[in-house]
Amino acid sequence: MKLELSILSSLLKRKSESGASEVGEKPSSTEKIFKLPPDFKLRIAITRARGEDYEGKELDSYTPDGFARVTIVEGREGYRYVVEDPKVSEETLYKAQRLIDEVLLYIVRPEDVEGGLTRIFDALGIKGDDYETRALRYLIQREVVGYKVVHPLVMDDNLEGIACDSPDRPVVVTHRKYGRMPTNIYLTKEQLDEMVRLLAYRGGRSISRFRPQVNVVLPTGDRAALTLGEGEVARSSSFVIRKFPKRPWTPPLYLATGVISPEAMALLWIASEHKLALMSFGGLGTGKTTLINAVAMLLPPEARIGIACDIPEMDVPHPGKVLMYERAGYGIASEGAITMMDLVKHLLRYDCDYITINEIRGEEAKVFGQALGIGQGGLASIHAESPEALFGRLKDLGVERALAAELRVLAHMGLFQAKGQRLRRVKAVYFVEGLDEEYRPKYITVAKYVLEKDRVVVEDPRPVFKLIAERSLKSEAEIEASWRLRARFLSLVTATPKVRERLSEPSEWLKALIEFYRNPKGLIARLEEAVKAEQLLVSLPASPSTPTTAPQVAPSPGGSGELLP
Ligand SMILES: Nc1ncnc2c1ncn2[C@@H]1O[C@H](COP(=O)(O)OP(=O)(O)O)[C@@H](O)[C@H]1O
Ligand SMILES: [Mg+2]
Repeated sequence: MKLELSILSSLLKRKSESGASEVGEKPSSTEKIFKLPPDFKLRIAITRARGEDYEGKELDSYTPDGFARVTIVEGREGYRYVVEDPKVSEETLYKAQRLIDEVLLYIVRPEDVEGGLTRIFDALGIKGDDYETRALRYLIQREVVGYKVVHPLVMDDNLEGIACDSPDRPVVVTHRKYGRMPTNIYLTKEQLDEMVRLLAYRGGRSISRFRPQVNVVLPTGDRAALTLGEGEVARSSSFVIRKFPKRPWTPPLYLATGVISPEAMALLWIASEHKLALMSFGGLGTGKTTLINAVAMLLPPEARIGIACDIPEMDVPHPGKVLMYERAGYGIASEGAITMMDLVKHLLRYDCDYITINEIRGEEAKVFGQALGIGQGGLASIHAESPEALFGRLKDLGVERALAAELRVLAHMGLFQAKGQRLRRVKAVYFVEGLDEEYRPKYITVAKYVLEKDRVVVEDPRPVFKLIAERSLKSEAEIEASWRLRARFLSLVTATPKVRERLSEPSEWLKALIEFYRNPKGLIARLEEAVKAEQLLVSLPASPSTPTTAPQVAPSPGGSGELLP
């Protein structure tokens, strides 16, 4: 297309004309620069919903990034995730495209784009805070430093995952509440190749025919598995992004989901605190890592907690934490790779009280076993469907039997679809009494999920108390009393929205934890007061209790210990 005047030269001209930038004096020439040509073809991808996309029942509607609108629709074939990008004029799209092509190409560093855009807008006389101008900025930014057409999805904290398997199929998302569903976004082959390259680049790696499969962590903290389909390994490019929750699952937020009851959580707490090793197991995405992370947030505030992760997905607010991440190697020989085993070995030298691994998959299992063998506490997750399968895997991974037998508490995680929503629940908590020669475990169920109550009910915690008592030189009665205090505390921190919100920030949680370890009864008394006051407030107007995904902890008036068995 013929340009009467390129944007760049016009920018330069203006600068020389009026030393200091007297902004936007000649809007007429700006209009000239951006006059929509009759043959304008939009190249940047934007998503337009069609009427039929909305057919069905609208369940939810929100905007993840302030501009694109997302609507969750329940249609005849299931849920749909319908995206509508900002509705701007053709002129605005044309402007966006030209600014990207002609000016922003020259801004190399992503952090300069924001300021650069402001200067360019000023110089060109694009002013105003109207929707059209803000949307123009948004569209440019998401093209240049964002995630282009899937930007709203990447920004959507309601999503757990985003995937695109081939150009002829829609981008698919996994919604935290509604589960997996297709979107109305399709990528052409070129767009998909470009997206995979872009994601690799954003994660600081390159993907090529030579190395067509790459895993990265995006600047958002999300991880992406990428395949470039030009080579021999796949028919087309594809990507899977697993989203990292922006709000850490501190115990108050975690318990509020109903995944586990306060009394069952308190059992995991007291066991882990006394260094009985804990492992969560179950299928992919059932919440294994999240559980051990939530338990780790209950460990003594002064403890040294070593955390090894292949991806940055765990954290605790404890000042004594030591966080380490695996790293892939560089170059053809993948030099300088740091494996999970390296990390765990290294953590052993850090004199940690507890070693935590987000997921055990390989050789690090042996080192983890060694840590348990020398009396360190351990928390980890592993992919397995039963306690038998779990110990079978540890055997295959080369963990010595005596060390595997140090693993005492197991939490079985499950993901269910109920009433159109997804529920994560701890199916059972087991206490392992021992292993036979073949690593077959002998175990008892100390807590289990009861469907009718939608609650993880503690059945018989005594074997756990007994072992802790043996190891800590305390009486079983003392341990049981500590457990009750912990359960009471946990039921209170999630009993009312205000208290829950206040304690759900990691730093606030740490403060509460410090106080709990110092003076549990005092803190409990104060929380009881706060909860009572809040319940009084809510109970004044008749409160229509909306059914939530999570059964809230039954508020227990008067603060009796009636929650406990
Ligand atoms: N109790 C819960 N309620 C809601 N979402 C949860 C819960 N537990 C975990 N999640 C979310 O589910 C996803 C998968 O959890 P994760 O712990 O990574 O699973 P796994 O380790 O089993 O693969 C994450 O996005 C996490 O934030
Ligand atoms: Mg995990």
